[in-house]
Amino acid sequence: MSVPEYFVLGGDRMPRIGFGTWQASDEVLEKAVAAALDAGYRHFDTARAYENEAALGRALNRWIGNDPAKRKELFIVTKIPPGGNRPDLVEECFNGSLKDLGLDYIDLYLIHVPFAFEYVPGDLHPTNHDGSMKVDLTTDLVAVWKTVLKLKESGKVRHVGVSNMNEEQILRLSAIEKPACLQIEVHALCQQSSMLAAAKRLDIPVVAYSPLGSKALADNLAAKTGREYPSLLDLPVVKKIAAAHSRTPAQILLRQLLQRGVAAIPKSTDPTRIKQNISVWDFELNENEMAELAALDRGENGRICDFSFFVGVEKHPEFPFKK
Ligand code: A2P
Repeated sequence: MSVPEYFVLGGDRMPRIGFGTWQASDEVLEKAVAAALDAGYRHFDTARAYENEAALGRALNRWIGNDPAKRKELFIVTKIPPGGNRPDLVEECFNGSLKDLGLDYIDLYLIHVPFAFEYVPGDLHPTNHDGSMKVDLTTDLVAVWKTVLKLKESGKVRHVGVSNMNEEQILRLSAIEKPACLQIEVHALCQQSSMLAAAKRLDIPVVAYSPLGSKALADNLAAKTGREYPSLLDLPVVKKIAAAHSRTPAQILLRQLLQRGVAAIPKSTDPTRIKQNISVWDFELNENEMAELAALDRGENGRICDFSFFVGVEKHPEFPFKK
């Protein structure tokens, strides 16, 4: 099964293996991005809420130098922070991202989450005294989407899309204008078949985040909640298929996503693993292997990023997941 290496968004090519950047310190990230550029990554994913846009921007700009053709090779994605989900704040947040990244334009700008925090300048994750989030319950998602769409008129963003939304929310926004892209958690334990089918019906390309199971987040949540998060990379089926192809478990997990028709943004800070994760074009999983991997799905129970780390956010009327 040959798998195209790009999605085409309105004439622009978005590589289907991108580089994820959540949860890395600035210094580590700059080195990792340099290694990723060397390894051939051209699609980089960040967010205002990750607080690393400046570090990513420094690494990208070192590579671009004075060559505008090199900027055109890149596909850069960032996202509105949860505190910016208000029509009067979208442009300010967008300009902040653009400035920190040190770029003239963004390739894809996403609404990061459908819920919202109160806007507190200088504090992207405002909390109450009891540790719960200061949640803004008044979000008008359609109004936010209309404002995001307007950003395209400035020429400073080429495409706009959404992340972490459920099917009803995507349909609601699509009635205004279809998002150019949907970014959601997808991996072997959380296969999102119904969301992928909905996106296919709407012809919206899907990017999988946490494609390898985001160990740091899973460990963090496990420590807080006592819940068990199996390591995707250690699943016996994944290891068996990896051995059969002389590949790594990460390559098997990524290849499964590619053959399911989605893009993926693995992150790594290790140059060898960074290279491995983009070397997934020259082998193929057969039908039996795809079926064995499909059987690993745990549905909603397999979701890692359920936002339980934002205490109280599930009370928001736009909280996207089953309560
Ligand atoms: P490291 O940075 O040490 O490579 P996700 O992309 O799902 O968020 O997962 C990222 C996690 O997976 C990180 O802990 C990263 O650790 C690890 N990781 C990334 N690539 C590989 C790989 N090829 N093999 C094993 N672990 C990997």
